[in-house]
Amino acid sequence: MINSVKGKIISINGPIIKATGMDEAGMLDVVNVGKNELVGEIIKLDQGIATIQVYEDNSMMETGEEVVSFKRPLSVLLGPGLLEGIYDGLQRPLKDIANMTGCFIQPGVKTYPLDLKKKWHFIPILNKNDKVSQGIKIGYVEETELIRHFIMIPPEVKAAKIKSIVKEGDYTINDTIVVLDNDQEIKMCHYHPVRRSRPYLKKLTLKEPLITGLRIIDMFYPLAKGGTAAIPGGFGTGKTMTQHSLAKWSDADVIVYIGCGERGNEMTDVLNEFPKLIDPKTNQPLMKRTIMIANTSNMPVAAREVSIYTGITLAEYYRDMGYAVAVMADSTSRWAEALRELSGRLEEMPAEEGFPAYLPSRLAEFYERAGLINTFNNEEGSISIIGAVSPPGGDFSEPVTQHTKRFIRCFWALDKNLANARHYPAISWLDSYSEYLNEVMDEWYKIDSDYENIRTEALTILKTEEKLNQIVKLIGPESLPDNQRLILLTAEMLKKGYLQQNSFDEIDMYAVPEKQIYLLKIIIEFYNLSNKAIKKGTPLVKIKELKIIDEINRLKSTISNKEIVKFEEFLNNLRSSFENLLNIYT
Ligand SMILES: Nc1ncnc2c1ncn2[C@@H]1O[C@H](COP(=O)(O)OP(=O)(O)OP(=O)(O)O)[C@@H](O)[C@H]1O
Ligand SMILES: [Mg+2]
Repeated sequence: MINSVKGKIISINGPIIKATGMDEAGMLDVVNVGKNELVGEIIKLDQGIATIQVYEDNSMMETGEEVVSFKRPLSVLLGPGLLEGIYDGLQRPLKDIANMTGCFIQPGVKTYPLDLKKKWHFIPILNKNDKVSQGIKIGYVEETELIRHFIMIPPEVKAAKIKSIVKEGDYTINDTIVVLDNDQEIKMCHYHPVRRSRPYLKKLTLKEPLITGLRIIDMFYPLAKGGTAAIPGGFGTGKTMTQHSLAKWSDADVIVYIGCGERGNEMTDVLNEFPKLIDPKTNQPLMKRTIMIANTSNMPVAAREVSIYTGITLAEYYRDMGYAVAVMADSTSRWAEALRELSGRLEEMPAEEGFPAYLPSRLAEFYERAGLINTFNNEEGSISIIGAVSPPGGDFSEPVTQHTKRFIRCFWALDKNLANARHYPAISWLDSYSEYLNEVMDEWYKIDSDYENIRTEALTILKTEEKLNQIVKLIGPESLPDNQRLILLTAEMLKKGYLQQNSFDEIDMYAVPEKQIYLLKIIIEFYNLSNKAIKKGTPLVKIKELKIIDEINRLKSTISNKEIVKFEEFLNNLRSSFENLLNIYT
């Protein structure tokens, strides 16, 4: 059996090279290229000539150097020790690379994705003679304080009986912990190809919201667990901040953060900042349930292309253990630009704005790896994908935003004007949408049966305000009757007291669902009571004099998540303020 194929480089075009003598190699085989043994992948095979994408800096490479294929696809290593890891697109730990080569990644550096020496305390959950097949949990280790890491039978292992299983104890990832009756040995780690999604029992219909603590998202444009969302926004509108908020606060168990092609210094900020973030629910470092993949724009472009698959494969692994995983990709535009550059070097026919014609299918393949599934253990696991999109000039009509829209069902459009006005999060309530409302409704109903009503009322007020503003621009606010001016007033309160949510405000940065509902109920109740008062002849100016308006606007930062009972008291105060007013005007 041939287990390696050797060829010779005949042409070099940046990260794209061609090699002859590769007849026995396979499509998508991983290869070692040149004397530095750089990592590459075969992306085209034609009569023994392989076109290879090289994932490391190959500027020193020369034709005639050797190419070796080991006849296996580009894979990631899955096992305990992934959490807290900071990797490049090829799953090389950045810390190890820095220790070995300094700040700049030297081509050909060989590192191992997981610690080979570390001993993990393995606790078996199955016994000798138990039947197993792919995906079945055989035991676990406590990977971090926050996440129990289940050791599963790797995909594609044939059903068999356990011949022997080790006792509870300390083992490295390379120790054999189970032997099957077909003599196959199972370790705590295994490889999985990054471009092939991991198998599962079945896909399920989405049913719960991914609670993020951000009101505009949870109440107005909710994401379902297992769903897909895009955050498009021009330069500096808050894509990264929103992703950080979600990483910190969303009720996902595991976070995979793919920093894709952002400027080097920006990524350094993320790398410095993220490890300092504290998980608010457990007071432990957030990294204990996070894996980071970092690819800056000064790393080789092909590694950026692959980083997204590396990230999603790691996410699928934790999904298969029964966890809710959230994948953040910042930004998918830089990834699409990598595709464009590689496609250009392959001399493919360009489609819109130079992007390859397969841009939409690649985007689809990525977002399709999201979902809620039944694992082989008959548990539920999910992957939610949240991709930032950075359209040049903030113009949403460009190809990456447009194609992304076809594959996501939740669109949180960042608005330059809101960001300029320091209205954060700058998510537009007019341009955003969510198609998950039906899926998440039941869960919200359990919290409050008014969810849909108050949501619709609030959105109607905001949309009407937009129309009224057109009139106001032409003829001034004086021309509007009081009930319409009330809409303008309430819309202001919705923006100030509800939609704006400062990531730096200790009390307001995260709102539990009950608080989100109460705050909105209070504003809607204010609106309904004011309407009644106006109908009974109360002038709007008198309503505007009510002290309670200011209190409502500040409520988000004065009543904390732990003081929900205070909202009911506040509602009573609100009603009595209006009773007093109505007593005067009836
Ligand atoms: N939710 C928020 N709360 C408070 N401030 C915010 C919020 N969102 C954004 N900002 C402010 O806007 C600045 C820019 O945000 P951010 O870096 O997230 O933008 P970006 O869209 O990722 O930018 P780039 O296009 O450069 O990647 C932040 O440094 C912060 O000052
Ligand atoms: Mg950013």
